[in-house]
Amino acid sequence: MGSIAENTLDNDLSFDEFDEENFPRPNDNDFDSVIESAISRRGFLGASLIMGTSAFLLGTSSFVSKAQAKSTFDFEGIAANTLDTITLPEGYQWQTVVKWGDPLWSNVPDFDHETRGNATSQEKSFGDNNDGMALFHKDDKNIFVCNNEYTNLKLIFGNRASNLPENDDDILKGMNAHGISVVELKEEAGKWEIVKDSPYNRRITPTTPIELTGPVRGHDLVKTSADPEGTTTLGTWNNCGNGRTPWGTYLACEENFNAYYARPNEDYKPGDAFARYGIGGKTRGLGWEQLDSRFDLGKEPNESNRAGYVVEIDPMDPEATPKKRTALGRFKHENAEVVISKNGEIVVYLGDDERGEYLYKFVSASKYDAKNPNHDILDEGTLYVAKFNDDLSGEWLALTPETTGMENQAEICVYTRQAASAVKATTMDRPEWVSSNPKKAEVYCALTNNKNRGIKPNKGGDETPVNAANPREANKYGQIIRWVPENGDHAALTFSWNLFVLAGNPVVNKTGLQAGSENINAGNMFNSPDGIAFDTKGRLWIQTDGKYSNEGDFEGMGNNQMLVGDTQTGEIRRFLVGPREAEITGATWSKDLKTMFVGIQHPGEKGQGESHFPDGGNSVPRSSVIAINRKDGATIG
Ligand code: FEO
Ligand code: CA
Ligand code: CA
Repeated sequence: MGSIAENTLDNDLSFDEFDEENFPRPNDNDFDSVIESAISRRGFLGASLIMGTSAFLLGTSSFVSKAQAKSTFDFEGIAANTLDTITLPEGYQWQTVVKWGDPLWSNVPDFDHETRGNATSQEKSFGDNNDGMALFHKDDKNIFVCNNEYTNLKLIFGNRASNLPENDDDILKGMNAHGISVVELKEEAGKWEIVKDSPYNRRITPTTPIELTGPVRGHDLVKTSADPEGTTTLGTWNNCGNGRTPWGTYLACEENFNAYYARPNEDYKPGDAFARYGIGGKTRGLGWEQLDSRFDLGKEPNESNRAGYVVEIDPMDPEATPKKRTALGRFKHENAEVVISKNGEIVVYLGDDERGEYLYKFVSASKYDAKNPNHDILDEGTLYVAKFNDDLSGEWLALTPETTGMENQAEICVYTRQAASAVKATTMDRPEWVSSNPKKAEVYCALTNNKNRGIKPNKGGDETPVNAANPREANKYGQIIRWVPENGDHAALTFSWNLFVLAGNPVVNKTGLQAGSENINAGNMFNSPDGIAFDTKGRLWIQTDGKYSNEGDFEGMGNNQMLVGDTQTGEIRRFLVGPREAEITGATWSKDLKTMFVGIQHPGEKGQGESHFPDGGNSVPRSSVIAINRKDGATIG
């Protein structure tokens, strides 16, 4: 086992760039298939798929033409900017609710900008890089649950010259910055704050016991020396988006879980099964393997089969053991959008955020009974993967031993990517959040970008030619796809689909696909949609995690932002601009809908002093959750 530095790849890379360098693949997409798809792409444009044209498909859901459409938004869209603060439309205000390192208990010291905390303080404080979030309501209590996806080495170890952990306490501090934070919130005189010492407050970290449930439980692939039965794992990390269930639980989705496992030596060559998931190369430098042999692939090769799942958490019971619901598959989970089918099955839509990977859904075997809910309903059901046909129809392909050739469901739920490849699903441009329209049976997914589209196969060797759903080679701006399940039933096996928006830059590219769809203009352009969430009125909130250079292809887009879309007319307005080098991610609302909570993740992520959000001065920039209100006290959701 080498030193942390020897095992570490450049940390300025994003998770997807990092995996790309760690597991390089040749550019060998079949050129003929690219040409063929480009031709069908022209047909597809000819069929008026791009928004705003009259023959827009999807039956009754076509956009109203621009001339007829009257805006339904009651705010003026704001201009892009590169300021180190939050910018909102006239009539709205924001406040910080909780930040990385804020203590959840009163016997824990406040965040120390010199040391940036230690393992003990971090274990009892709000984690780093807040992402998916949900506010639960019980009587007059507000219980806030939030993912703490990862940590930026240059920020958390910015007090060290190496920008790496330098002792065991540093390593444990980094670990404790990951996981989930559960904290009660209260609002007093218009000010939202955390309730220190609330009995609901809890930190779930990479060492918290978590039960493995569903098909994978007890399978040989998840047995380790510490858990020879394969039933209980420790901890969760890199929790990206989230979900919430009708029975009141929170779903935390494990995304880039892979680069935490260290190779035993430089000559180590991971097998195909590991390589598909980006496991077995260099790590991101957190050094967990130095503290815990679970993270040493030479010692515990099965350990990495125990991550990459959706974790269910009961926010109302801080003693409850969280459960990894393995029936929902193992991949780089983005979020988990839960809906109920016409017949009462629980349906969960799930994206796998990696270039050329897939979009999934799970349909429970039993029906949901609101009066007497089966709390383990997510353990049994069928996992499907999406196929988007170029004629705007789509199919859900079941992943079973019969369809995949795999031995049993456990294997499918560990090697879900390989199962999806076996049934020839559609490779997608990095499926991020999925959100379902509360007003009708219609579902949206953000496809953030994909520089390999039409250039390289995915990690499993599946070709990724341009197609109607992913229509741009080397897609740099992203798109939002939407589908209507047949007969309005989320359990149906077929659907029709189209694109709600093709992001682009119509100033830099006057015409063509790089200009974006008709609902993109100089005043609302953005790149890399990531978080999406519907409010109760059926408006789609769109958050970005993209290029913030404000130069070249991205000139005029400014910092990452949040916009609102009217899914009937197609209109999109910019509502929020975030601080420098931050991503906007995660959204939830107060019970009275007068407050919207939004996540500001990794301001100043490069560690070069560009951002001091939110404390200002010369402070360490800190990921934060903010609350947004209308100044007139009206609702915002
Ligand atoms: Fe954590 Fe795909 O974003
Ligand atoms: Ca995301
Ligand atoms: Ca992201």
